[in-house]
Amino acid sequence: MYDSIRGTKDILPEESKKWEFLERTIREVARLYNVQEIRIPTFERTELFYKSTGEDTDIVQKEMYTFTDKGGRSLTLKPEGTPGVVRAFLQYSLHKKRPFHKLFYIERMFRQERPQKGRYREFYQFGVEIIGSASPLVDVELISMVMNILERLGIKGTYVRVNSLGCDKCRPDYRKALKEYLKGKLPLLCENCRRRYETNPLRILDCKVDAEKLTDAPRMIDFLCDECKEHHRIVIDTLKSLNIPFKEDSTLVRGLDYYTRTVFEFIHPSLGAQDSIGGGGRYDTLIKSMGGPDIPAAGFAMGMERMLLAMGDREIEEEKPVVFFVALGDDAKRLSFNLLEGMRKAGVKADMDYIGRSMKAQMREANRLGAVFTYIIGEDEIKKGIGILKNMDTGEQMNVPMDVEEIKRRIS
Ligand code: HAM
Repeated sequence: MYDSIRGTKDILPEESKKWEFLERTIREVARLYNVQEIRIPTFERTELFYKSTGEDTDIVQKEMYTFTDKGGRSLTLKPEGTPGVVRAFLQYSLHKKRPFHKLFYIERMFRQERPQKGRYREFYQFGVEIIGSASPLVDVELISMVMNILERLGIKGTYVRVNSLGCDKCRPDYRKALKEYLKGKLPLLCENCRRRYETNPLRILDCKVDAEKLTDAPRMIDFLCDECKEHHRIVIDTLKSLNIPFKEDSTLVRGLDYYTRTVFEFIHPSLGAQDSIGGGGRYDTLIKSMGGPDIPAAGFAMGMERMLLAMGDREIEEEKPVVFFVALGDDAKRLSFNLLEGMRKAGVKADMDYIGRSMKAQMREANRLGAVFTYIIGEDEIKKGIGILKNMDTGEQMNVPMDVEEIKRRIS
């Protein structure tokens, strides 16, 4: 007997109903927003993540599943979707086909984190990447798409944390001011933060250990250049006009290196320590830094297990079989099987017993499945060529010839 690996999850049929509902809802909303699906490989060159996710991020430093293949190449199971999507975008020169692309993915991700509720080593993300526009309305469209999905899933109480991280023009000044402020505090900070002081001081602001000591730190928002300020103003005004619940939060920096201007995170308070149900932001310089043209982009990814946790015990209705064939004896079974296949070809959900249950137990099974009708074939019925169709709701029975068209006519 083997167990699954810690941090991985089996999705058994009872739960897969919820997954199916979640994916269906995501696809419906993606259609409304005119977003097209992209599927990317499970593993990529390790270097891709160093270049895009960022060398100094927790993901790249500590969490990647990296291995060397037989060709001696270093490969990594994707810990996030953005690098793979951008790689594919450039590999197939999608920008030469059209200037503007809206892409979504539902993919497995892999991160070697300490497993706990809402945090797994293999998990699913639903992500969207909108490539080719610098408009602040795109940032809001991404946020609104998520809120729309959450509403359809019946997930209430989510709000959005929003911040701007500025651009290459204004961020260096902020970085300088922040480093100046942090200098005196370094001895008070954790080892991780002390290391980040040189490599990525902004990330110190959202350190789980030290953030409380830094409430009077300078804020990026006060250092934005005119263009970034205007971009941020439009994002905030549009969120307000759409009545999207949000909080401006100058400590939100996100754990990936590629962000510029708008960053956001969806918080669902009931999830406890892992309350970030999703997050994203703008990454206007990533594509260029990966060797592509200068094309702006923005996106997000949602943790699908966390979305399901936030949905709670909501029951998902399953489609019931319309007919369950109840048959006793080999001849009756064979006749049932032919009719059963005929029903399915005609598009009717139907089933029968395969484990030699008694007549009574077959009726019980039909009940358990919620079948609308049973079609019963016993020895007498075989002789007459006529079975009994029983309405399981009313108990009403009628004789119906063993013919797919006849049965179909009576059940519709
Ligand atoms: P991220 O914040 O690293 O962003 O991940 C997005 C979401 O994935 C998180 O908010 C969380 O819900 C879920 N998640 C992350 N790690 C785990 C885990 N170990 N177990 C379960 N769920 C997890 C990104 O991945 C970016 N690629 C988002 C993005 C797209 N930015 C621009 N475009």
